[in-house]
Amino acid sequence: MTGRASFPRVAALKTPDAFRAHLRALGVELDFDEELASGSASPLAMRTVVDGFTVGNRFCVLPMEGWDGTPGGAPSDFTRRRWRRFGESGAKLIWGGEAVAVRDDGRANPNQLLLTAATQPALARLRDDLVAAHRNAFGANADRDLCIGLQLTHSGRYARPSARDRPEPLAAAAHPVLDRRFPDGVRIIADEEIDALVEHFVVAARLAASAGFDFVDIKHCHGYLGHELLGAVGRPGRYGGPLENRTRFLRTIVDGIRAEAPELAIAVRVSAFDTVPYRKDADGHGVEEDDPYSGFGITREPGCGPNLDDARAFLQIVQDLGIHLVCITAGSPYYNPHVQRPALFPPSDGYDPPEDPLVGVARQIAATACLKREFPSMAIVGSAYSYLQEWLPHVAQHAVRTGLTDFVGIGRMVLSYPELPADVLAGRPLRRKSICRTFSDCTTAPRLGLRSGCYPLDGFYGSHPDGEVLAARKSSERSTR
Ligand SMILES: Cc1cc2nc3c(=O)[nH]c(=O)nc-3n(C[C@H](O)[C@H](O)[C@H](O)COP(=O)(O)O)c2cc1C
Repeated sequence: MTGRASFPRVAALKTPDAFRAHLRALGVELDFDEELASGSASPLAMRTVVDGFTVGNRFCVLPMEGWDGTPGGAPSDFTRRRWRRFGESGAKLIWGGEAVAVRDDGRANPNQLLLTAATQPALARLRDDLVAAHRNAFGANADRDLCIGLQLTHSGRYARPSARDRPEPLAAAAHPVLDRRFPDGVRIIADEEIDALVEHFVVAARLAASAGFDFVDIKHCHGYLGHELLGAVGRPGRYGGPLENRTRFLRTIVDGIRAEAPELAIAVRVSAFDTVPYRKDADGHGVEEDDPYSGFGITREPGCGPNLDDARAFLQIVQDLGIHLVCITAGSPYYNPHVQRPALFPPSDGYDPPEDPLVGVARQIAATACLKREFPSMAIVGSAYSYLQEWLPHVAQHAVRTGLTDFVGIGRMVLSYPELPADVLAGRPLRRKSICRTFSDCTTAPRLGLRSGCYPLDGFYGSHPDGEVLAARKSSERSTR
């Protein structure tokens, strides 16, 4: 088993030949353009039309929660700053901003945003702030081709609505391994409760539409309720068993939104493939749990590519529902973070990566390409590009130019370097000091009860008192290891 020390830093792969040689040594197929185009010649600058919206370029800001809303679920100054920076990024597709719970018991932490009649005006202002920042940076009419959605969620198994250290899991199905991680037990949501929850999604979607959002994402990823329902093969009743039942949640929400807010576009972010849960072994390495659970899109054979059979069947249903916008992601930050957000440095509740993180990046890009090939009329957003660092623009340009994806989604990099899309499109060299090096503090901080943000590279967080607390907690964890 290898540790992180054996993986070369991407920053050290300074030339195309060095980067290519390293990928080859890993056995990873990941193509990139050596030369970057800029301005209107850039494939990343190509406009496209999605669901009737003109989207001005191929960069998408992925949803990035900050654990910094008010106890009532409204945005704070921290949230507003993050969203303004999303607007300043130059990306023309904003995927949800962040996960927003449709009901209090679905919040993943007591500071997650909540969409209710009471918070709707504040969320509308949050969107307006993003638009104003975009106009301020790119011109008075720049928002004409800016498309903004809101990600709607119920956190299911990972709900912690009352206190950061008090899980209140509401799972879609029993899970032999994950249930053990909740010593106080896991409650399975009943069919009637799901029926009622569907209504909350529909109400929230209507509120999002009147707040000016162009679309809502019905979140089906990362181990939260929608995703867990997709894998609830052993669940009895109307929401478990065959795929038709496991997609009833989505289908009923879509019907409701079409009836109540017909002008609102609908999108889905899905964990298209998965693995069995990982845990940290005695040396800190990530190892697979012995897990017989079937789940959604789980690959069992080591060395085998992602299992996309479930994703294919799901996307066919999504397409038949008339949904044209899909964001592909994978796994879960809770049980296989190296799959979901490849990083050199693990978060506090993670483990040393069991593979070079570039393998994880390439896996998501290849799976996205495969699904794009099979569903060519869908607008597809890919994820997990941040670990590419200096090579992100090169891989992104190649992926869009050759049709591997329609949009390049960027998560962590936007926290450290929000203007990266604007710099790439303008042909400016990257600001190396702002490049995300995947220290994972944006994940560690909330695991320790602090706000998320880029502590190493964004001076705003580095100099915030939370930064000192984070440094102290990390150092005390290191010394007790
Ligand atoms: C701090 C943090 C918060 C995140 N919040 C969300 C979220 O609210 N909804 C979501 O679907 N994904 C969320 N993600 C996952 C990202 O959208 C993205 O899939 C992941 O970071 C991989 O992309 P990247 O390599 O560009 O960072 C979050 C990731 C991080 C690091």
